[in-house]
Parts: sequence; C-alpha cells; structure tokens
Amino acid sequence: MFSVFCEELFAEKHANQLRRASCQGMENAGESSTDDISEQIQDIKIVTTNNLAEDSPVKEEATDSKDSNKESPFYDDAKKYWSKVPATVDGMLGGFGGISYRDIKGSSSFLKDIFKMKPTVERRTAVDCGAGIGRVTKSLLFPLFQTVDMVEQDENFANSAREYLGGNASQLGTIYNIGLQNFTPEPGKYDVIWCQWVLSHLTDEDLQAFLERASVGLAKNGVIVLKENVTSSGEIEVDTTDSSITRPLRKFQDIIQSANLRIVKTIRQTDLPKGLYPIYMMALRPVRKS
Ligand SMILES: C[S@@+](CC[C@H](N)C(=O)[O-])C[C@H]1O[C@@H](n2cnc3c(N)ncnc32)[C@H](O)[C@@H]1O
Repeated sequence: MFSVFCEELFAEKHANQLRRASCQGMENAGESSTDDISEQIQDIKIVTTNNLAEDSPVKEEATDSKDSNKESPFYDDAKKYWSKVPATVDGMLGGFGGISYRDIKGSSSFLKDIFKMKPTVERRTAVDCGAGIGRVTKSLLFPLFQTVDMVEQDENFANSAREYLGGNASQLGTIYNIGLQNFTPEPGKYDVIWCQWVLSHLTDEDLQAFLERASVGLAKNGVIVLKENVTSSGEIEVDTTDSSITRPLRKFQDIIQSANLRIVKTIRQTDLPKGLYPIYMMALRPVRKS
C-alpha cells in the first residue's frame, strides 16, 4: 500500500531490503486531514458499468459501445487492491493522508495560473478522474467550478463520496462508476478534466486512447490536467501490489504527443516529505489543426 506513493519503498522492496520504518514515519509528517463527514445527500446520480439504472440519461454517454468494457488481470488486480482500501483520505493517499493539504494547495495554485492563460479556461464544469471518495473534488474543484462530475471505478468509494462531499454536494454532477479505460466523456462538456494519481492504473495504449477521448470531451478552451507520480530512475516501475506502472516524465511526454495534445504548463509539486515519488502537474491542450 505504501509503495503507491513512496519511491524509496518501491526501490527497497525490489532490492529485497524493505525498511518500512522510514516511510511509515512520513505518514505522520505534515498536517492531518480534518475533513468532516456531513449528512448523506441522496440525489446524486451514480452510473455504473454493470448496474446502470434503466432510465439513466447518462448510460450511453458514459460507456463507449465500440470499446466495450476492457477487462484484464491488470485492471482486475487493481480493482481487488482498491476494494480492500478504506474509504478515507488516508486510504486515498496510500497512508500519507497528512500530505493532502499541501497537495491541494499546490494544485490550487497551478489551476489559478492556468486560469490566467489565454485563451481563457471557463469555470463551469470539471471532471475528477480516478476520484476515489472525492478528496480532490471537495477541496480543489468545488471551490473553483460550478459543477463537478467524478469518474471512479470502485463502487464503495463512489458510494462513500455522497457522505464525504456532504453539504457541498449540490455542485456534484454525475458520478460515473466506471474505469477510465472505458470512460468516454460527452463531447465538449468539460472546462477541466483533472486526472490525479490514477493514470498509473492504465496501460500505455489505454492511456493514449483515454487522452484522445478526453480531448474530444473538452469544452472550448478547456484543458486536461495530469497530476501524477513519475520515476526518478527514468525507467518504468511496475508494482504488482496495486497493479500499477509508474512512468518517467519522458514516457508521459511521448504518450501526450501521440494523443495529439501539447503541454502548455508543467510544474513539479514541492513541499512534500522526502522519499515520495516526484509529482508533476501538466496542463494539456489539443494540438492546433493547421
Ligand atoms: C491513489 S487513489 C487517488 C484518488 C484521488 N485521485 C485522490 O487524489 O484523492 C487512486 C484512485 O484511482 C482509482 N482507480 C484505480 N484504477 C482505476 C481505473 N482504471 N479507472 C478509474 N479509477 C481507477 C482507485 O479506485 C482510487 O480511487
């Protein structure tokens, strides 16, 4: 569970010299999460791949009929891993719940810089991809957008979001309970498509295909933002514990280019404990057609 965020642990695990103590110490570094769980809100749409409500207006938009649900041991194993993780901020952050405040602060500053760019990104609708219980939705996106959708493959997390988002839930649009590899956004819907700490769960091929679909899902002047761990080694690191692949920055750049997108802003997240993977935020726009 800790290897999701902790590069030191990954290296040590694979050298067969796991010394958990140093990273477990980091768990307690920084601010602790103070998110309150408010009253349950009932009227939130949740769309699932297997359990779609018959009358759901979102059903056909949420799933791509041509690319019918990709399943494989890689995705199944990740699903199993996340199904055992508690629906808490600490669970979302691999035991590093204490970094949430500084993560959100870094993201907020990045987004505010994006809003100053031309052409102007509107602040109507965002989608939080790999949203978990809605940590990013609640603390980053709700304060900045009118409506926020969520995409989350784990049913328990999707259901827990209702409680976790509590009083702010009137801003919540639709929760798509579906893997990103199967998610096709409505064309032209989103001003910002925010993907954080989830893309390591997609294969390279599915990541490129997802970015291509996301590009179509952007509203005029919209951006896709990736906030992901990258390796320091310059190599791809495969973690069989949570069925993920952590990529070097170069690999992200190659996939982004293949998806016909360009990076308009990149920043490395600072102010986090040592030993974690480097974390980069990248804002992407479609390559202009000449
Ligand atoms: C490290 S947590 C991050 C959650 C959230 N982005 C945050 O920063 O608080 C990873 C999340 O990605 C979800 N996830 C894993 N594989 C996924 C997939 N293929 N499609 C969508 N979500 C996925 C997990 O269920 C989990 O909620």
